[in-house]
Amino acid sequence: MDENDLYSDAYNDFLAVVWGEGYLSPGGPEEVARILHGLDVKDAHVLDIGCGTGGIAVSLVRDHGAAHVTGIDIEAPACAAATRHAAEAGLTDRIAIRAVEPGPLDFADGSFGIVFSKDSIIHIADKEGLAADVFRVLEPGGWFAASDWLISHDDEPSADMKRYIEAEGLDFAMASPARYEAALKAAGFENVRLVNRNAWYAAVARQELDQMTGKARVGLVDRFGSELVDHNVEVWKAMVKVLESGEHCPHHLRGQRPR
Ligand SMILES: C[S@@+](CC[C@H](N)C(=O)[O-])C[C@H]1O[C@@H](n2cnc3c(N)ncnc32)[C@H](O)[C@@H]1O
Repeated sequence: MDENDLYSDAYNDFLAVVWGEGYLSPGGPEEVARILHGLDVKDAHVLDIGCGTGGIAVSLVRDHGAAHVTGIDIEAPACAAATRHAAEAGLTDRIAIRAVEPGPLDFADGSFGIVFSKDSIIHIADKEGLAADVFRVLEPGGWFAASDWLISHDDEPSADMKRYIEAEGLDFAMASPARYEAALKAAGFENVRLVNRNAWYAAVARQELDQMTGKARVGLVDRFGSELVDHNVEVWKAMVKVLESGEHCPHHLRGQRPR
């Protein structure tokens, strides 16, 4: 394992306790289903950008009937866990996990019926380039369906937001709903829709913080040590603040490549 991995095994294991095995973001398979609501995933070839530890790839096949999922991620520990989860689910013939370098998507034009992504585009600064590339790899009529962590405006982040981003220590490149919408439309997407999930995650994140500081704390400290747990408590406290102000506003995003 590369010691520079942002999503290390220990961090991924901690997040699995908070968010569920195979998930590095909140909401589990229920939130995935809400992102995909109304879209026909059955028999589709799906690309999952930033597949993390693979719980979503498994859900896309098992719960939504995708014919095949290609999950890509830049972190070796995440790819290894995702490959293991696909194998444990008996889905190695329908899930392929690929470690990639950040940059353009290495797939032919029109390769996928659906491009999915959950809470990973926050790590990709060039939203416009990504939107154009996603459009390119979609079949005509295909859908981009994603969620991501956004900032509510394009101005200088508030002091609370800066503190939160610094506390995360990840390579966050947050952008506003207006910027995402413009990027999708400029790429050629139609039926573009953004849904603000701030109220939902503000409530969930408060519960997660209560879990970490309450009854679950002893078990978490036993397993991960107090340093990692205390660090995450500080991250969650900073995050809850900017969720409550509305500045941190997770969104669902979707758009269709015209037929
Ligand atoms: C918050 S995690 C979400 C993982 C997964 N989608 C989930 O919801 O469980 C973000 C993931 O994006 C990956 N990532 C960051 N930059 C990326 C890039 N340029 N291409 C693909 N994956 C990337 C990270 O390694 C990490 O696994």
